[in-house]
Amino acid sequence: MRILSGIQPSGTLHIGNYFGMMRPAIALQAEGETFYFIAEYHALTSLRDPKALRENSLRVALDFLACGLNPDRGALFRQSDVPRVAELAWILSTVAPMGLLERAHSYKDKLARGLSPTVGLFSYPVLMAADILIYDSDIVPVGKDQKQHIEITRDLAVKINETYGDVFKLPEPRISAETQVVPGIDGQKMSKSYNNNIDIFGDEKETRKRIMGIVTDSTPVEAPKDPSRSTIVQLYSLFASKVEIAEMCERFQKGGTGYGDFKKQLFEKLWEFFVPMRKRREEIMRDESYIDEVLTSGAKRANEVANQVMKRVRDAVGL
Ligand code: ADP
Ligand code: TRP
Repeated sequence: MRILSGIQPSGTLHIGNYFGMMRPAIALQAEGETFYFIAEYHALTSLRDPKALRENSLRVALDFLACGLNPDRGALFRQSDVPRVAELAWILSTVAPMGLLERAHSYKDKLARGLSPTVGLFSYPVLMAADILIYDSDIVPVGKDQKQHIEITRDLAVKINETYGDVFKLPEPRISAETQVVPGIDGQKMSKSYNNNIDIFGDEKETRKRIMGIVTDSTPVEAPKDPSRSTIVQLYSLFASKVEIAEMCERFQKGGTGYGDFKKQLFEKLWEFFVPMRKRREEIMRDESYIDEVLTSGAKRANEVANQVMKRVRDAVGL
């Protein structure tokens, strides 16, 4: 079984990325061969600073490895080290219906956030389909917001198969049920573009500040509080045991504890959770060539598979 996912190097990684995509992707390493890549071509649709793009890409690799990705169980690579994916994107674009792409939520969301409507932004899902299909991927672990992109991928694969015969495998999304959407400090979906993120490897002061800034209502300290709608409880639930969660909910309902105390408790738990990852990150940083070696060998493996699949595609379409 082949498992594939990508992550854009468009900024620092936050705990929404961790629980929505990285942790499930790492866990899936027990189930098959994994292909995880840094989606630089996709990041170009929103990031036009070459230095930042290069730095972010290396940092994503570092952070992913620090969080437990095992490069011996699969390939970790840069998207741009497999440039054939852009060729496949072109071929897919020749069968991609405009209407299908016009219905993509993420395109509409990005325009609503003020990104300019470029062709790249519009055909983002076609490139993503190429990323997935070029490795004959079976399973694609992603957060819920990417589900529609996997559906588009399947539609494009079916179009090619109907036109040219059996060329592509149909991939399945794998969306982690318990952490569908991690809320940010304002209660909306956590996203670096909403600036409501808590970073995995943020420094201690900044992380504490962010957590103390979680938006709450104005229920007074002594009054009972509703745990079911609290961002603090939702975030705490990602890190704490069942017993600890139940305890916090009880203290919410009892009254007598202010939100500030609950936030401190959340900070402690979150900080402690990432201690082993921070330690591993420092170790990796001490070995300058390690990340380069991982990415080079990942690219080699990815190209082996991509070249085979592209031979099949070129034969099928008449190139
Ligand atoms: P951002 O919204 O911060 O730009 P990305 O779009 O780069 O994040 O997301 C990278 C991966 O992390 C995707 O698989 C996405 O589904 C997942 N992800 C991002 N934010 C969240 C969130 N708040 N909850 C769950 N998963 C998320
Ligand atoms: N669009 C994904 C995101 O923003 C990143 C991505 C690019 C991806 N290509 C992919 C994810 C292929 C899974 C499979 O998070």
